[in-house]
Amino acid sequence: MFAVYAERSSFDDPLSGLVVGERPDPDVPDPSTGSGQAAWTTVEVKASSLNHHDLWSLRGVGLREDALPMILGCDAAGVDEDGNEVLVHAVISDPSWSGDETEDPRRSLLSERFQGTFADRVAVPRSNLVPKPASLSFAEAACLPTAWLTAYRMLFVQGGLRPGQHVLVQGAGGGVATALITLARAGGLHVSVTSRDEAKRARALEIGAHEVHESGARLPARVDAVMETVGAATWNHSLRSLRPGGIVVISGATSGPNPDLTELNRIFFLQLRVVGSTMGTRAELAQLVSMLDATGVRPLVDRTLPMAEAREGFAAMQAGDVFGKIVFTR
Ligand SMILES: NC(=O)c1ccc[n+]([C@@H]2O[C@H](COP(=O)([O-])OP(=O)(O)OC[C@H]3O[C@@H](n4cnc5c(N)ncnc54)[C@H](OP(=O)(O)O)[C@@H]3O)[C@@H](O)[C@H]2O)c1
Repeated sequence: MFAVYAERSSFDDPLSGLVVGERPDPDVPDPSTGSGQAAWTTVEVKASSLNHHDLWSLRGVGLREDALPMILGCDAAGVDEDGNEVLVHAVISDPSWSGDETEDPRRSLLSERFQGTFADRVAVPRSNLVPKPASLSFAEAACLPTAWLTAYRMLFVQGGLRPGQHVLVQGAGGGVATALITLARAGGLHVSVTSRDEAKRARALEIGAHEVHESGARLPARVDAVMETVGAATWNHSLRSLRPGGIVVISGATSGPNPDLTELNRIFFLQLRVVGSTMGTRAELAQLVSMLDATGVRPLVDRTLPMAEAREGFAAMQAGDVFGKIVFTR
């Protein structure tokens, strides 16, 4: 079948290992083998979306050399074997695990251990399917399972934020950042945003930010919470922007994982909370879908490309030339 996959990894030249070509159909694990292996099914992919995770995989971060070649892609919306329109939840937990699947030490994301979604078909446990409402297009639905679910959990689960609170989103243009801005506004929060780029700051205002600032600029008022995906480049600014007792929720470190200063004095003296967040549960994905269905809020799509032109999308993401989600269609 047609597939976009990683043939090898290179930290410095990630696109050199990207192949647009053919791969075998996905294996559906036999339900009669293994320790209570959940029933798997195959979904015909109608749309998928690109995440920074796919670039990390090409860099060899989170994707083992011995798992190559690996079809990339965490996100998909499509049609299951019974003809139902579905979203695919990307977190695959161990069949023996119960509870919050993001806390399963043996979990993986599609495209890490099991083949990913940039293909004609993807195999997943049947329990990972979430019904797609008719109000969402396949392209919109394909934006939700990674970036938008991550943003949802950061704000409303790990962050515990409520209407009226003030949140700072670090970075404006990314898939997670645009989701954070849109969802925070829809959730009744006051939304401040930083970006390195003036045009992206202007666009952040259009999609719901109340105020925008240059990256690193001193804010006019301290905030209740900061949503971090940028990492080293913005970490100290995040801690300096919080009110006493405030919370920083971090789900990524695009610019690097080791900030120069960790501001430990500030953390204990101001009683700040630092909370990690990773993806979300299937139940949270279903809540997010319901929220979009009920409110009319929609993911911001930067561009839609045929999957055969995936390389163009990867190059744009690597260059930081993106505002919203890059969607691939079949
Ligand atoms: N833990 C999880 O479950 C999870 C889930 C999804 C994503 N992530 C991680 O979250 C990060 C973002 O993912 P994504 O898919 O949204 O990526 P993306 O679309 O490439 O977005 C990158 C973002 O980082 C900002 N940025 C990059 N370098 C920066 C710098 N030096 N200074 C300031 N801002 C900078 C950009 O802001 P501007 O261009 O507007 O300045 C943009 O908002 C990635 O590291 C990804 O691996 C983690």
